[in-house]
Amino acid sequence: MKRAFVVGYPISHSRSPLIHGFWLRELGIEGSYERIAVEPAAFEAFATTLAGQGFAGGNVTVPHKEAAFRLASVDDPVARDLEAVNTLWLEQGVLKGMNTDVIGFLANLDQEAPGWSERLRQAVVLGAGGASRAIVYALLQRGAERILLANRTLDRAEALARHFGPKVTALAWSEAAAALQTADLLVNTTSLGMKGQPPLDLDLSPLPGTALVTDIVYVPLETPLLAAARRRGLATVDGLGMLLHQAVPGFERWFGARPRVTPQLRALVLADIEAHA
Ligand code: ATR
Repeated sequence: MKRAFVVGYPISHSRSPLIHGFWLRELGIEGSYERIAVEPAAFEAFATTLAGQGFAGGNVTVPHKEAAFRLASVDDPVARDLEAVNTLWLEQGVLKGMNTDVIGFLANLDQEAPGWSERLRQAVVLGAGGASRAIVYALLQRGAERILLANRTLDRAEALARHFGPKVTALAWSEAAAALQTADLLVNTTSLGMKGQPPLDLDLSPLPGTALVTDIVYVPLETPLLAAARRRGLATVDGLGMLLHQAVPGFERWFGARPRVTPQLRALVLADIEAHA
């Protein structure tokens, strides 16, 4: 029996066991996927002894993604850029790592808004944390010509803009609304709009009618931002698909079959979100 895990600290909120458990049943694979809480001081000992513990690999979440990057052998250019690993596996006894956030973000938009990146020239990205870095990377990979990055703390947006070069421009938070005028895509990568957090209060009226709006927050599924975009008649994509798609590469490596993101999987995770709302 093949075994995989999600490791974090704390870990109780993770929906990954639900996702991988669904795929294991659907594909008839004899395997397990467990939640494991490991304190920061114990992470290195955990990650470097996976084979001895009987694991094929697993997912890594907060606060261990940077430590996982340092401990694993990393060929993946995304993980190297982000200096963070969220997926570990063993390859001929060697601990390998990658980061699937870019794949997850792009696959979600490709599935829910086909052709979106052919229309992409300018994007406005809200936030400048780890998620923002993955999304800016993803948008540049898909040929965005200009990315306007607005963040409450301007310094963090400026640091990210320097990291990515001349296509990325940092903006003060107050400049975000004006920047929408020429945007083909608006992405929220902040925690604003998440259950228990303040809503994201941004006037969407400057956005062109052809713009796409997406949010990485998925609790609630329809955030105040997505609701406002929908009222304006704009196309929207919610954040749940990113969570589902980012799980695919790990499952394939640990269990040897490529799983699919289906309406049934979405419904299962959505029911869990609603049960705990
Ligand atoms: P992640 O790795 O998920 O991106 P993070 O690095 O903690 O998490 O980044 C959180 C993002 O949400 C940041 O852009 C943060 O803005 P700051 O850089 O100014 O902290 C943004 N954010 C969180 N709470 C916010 C709030 N109340 N108003 C505006 N932005 C907020």
